[in-house]
Amino acid sequence: MKIDQARVLLTGATGGIGQAIAKELLARGAAVLLSGRSPAKLAALARQLGGPSSLPERIHWHAADLDDPAALAALRDAAAEWRTNVLINNAGTPSFGRFESFGAEHMEQVLRTNLLAPMRLTQALLPALRRQPRAQVIQVGSALGRIGLPGYSVYSASKFGLRGFAEALRRELRGSTVRVQYLGPRSTRTGFNDARVDAYNRATGTAVDTPESVALALVALIESEAAERFLGMPEKLAVRLNGAVPQWLDGAFDKHRASLNPIPLETPT
Ligand SMILES: NC(=O)c1ccc[n+]([C@@H]2O[C@H](COP(=O)([O-])OP(=O)(O)OC[C@H]3O[C@@H](n4cnc5c(N)ncnc54)[C@H](OP(=O)(O)O)[C@@H]3O)[C@@H](O)[C@H]2O)c1
Repeated sequence: MKIDQARVLLTGATGGIGQAIAKELLARGAAVLLSGRSPAKLAALARQLGGPSSLPERIHWHAADLDDPAALAALRDAAAEWRTNVLINNAGTPSFGRFESFGAEHMEQVLRTNLLAPMRLTQALLPALRRQPRAQVIQVGSALGRIGLPGYSVYSASKFGLRGFAEALRRELRGSTVRVQYLGPRSTRTGFNDARVDAYNRATGTAVDTPESVALALVALIESEAAERFLGMPEKLAVRLNGAVPQWLDGAFDKHRASLNPIPLETPT
């Protein structure tokens, strides 16, 4: 779809990547319904993005905690009224650390926000999307939705799940007017990553992208209607190799494992 024909519902609009996506979409003529949890942050963002002209017909916002079914239903209604034809499931929550350090509540929270919420919102919005001549649903996943790395067990579970969901639904809706797509950014400089992740990235030589480069990739994904897109050449290759022969890569992440924390690692028997 051409961007100036897109009427977008963007979740996670107040975050680092969300703000860059909103800016890029608006600059290219899309209409954007911004969503996040904080009305104050959304109102400020809408003002900032609208500039002096305020573009009231192309920017609107609706606050919703996507983990709350009633709030999600209200967002669905606002999105239907907006005549949304592009849903971008971008909201997400981080998880990083040794698997043994996570409590059940944390694991449930990550899966709820990163996997169940986009599934529920996609399902809730499908009838309205089907009423549009053409529609697209973009799941913002991660390279870690194709490659599991030490430190990202719970996060990868959520993003692998999201990718599986996107792939199955894309095939289920093939031949319909709704296209399902998956974007896999690599590490990106936003508030999502804390000092521990920055240290891990430095220790392992992990490349870190800007949110603006993720926004450009997302815009290209909307225009191309490709099934999925990953950022970064080494990551693209690793994703392919990992898909074909994952065990070949098992030894490639010892540096990542070692940099998780200074606890001596057990020697596998
Ligand atoms: N940054 C990275 O390294 C990276 C790499 C690959 C993929 N990604 C993915 O890219 C997406 C955006 O990440 P980001 O870096 O922009 O993160 P971010 O700056 O932390 O922003 C997260 C966004 O998600 C929203 N959010 C979180 N929980 C929510 C909930 N329960 N209900 C509604 N909104 C909720 C936040 O809204 P509030 O304003 O209400 O907090 C915020 O707008 C995520 O899906 C992430 O997994 C990030």
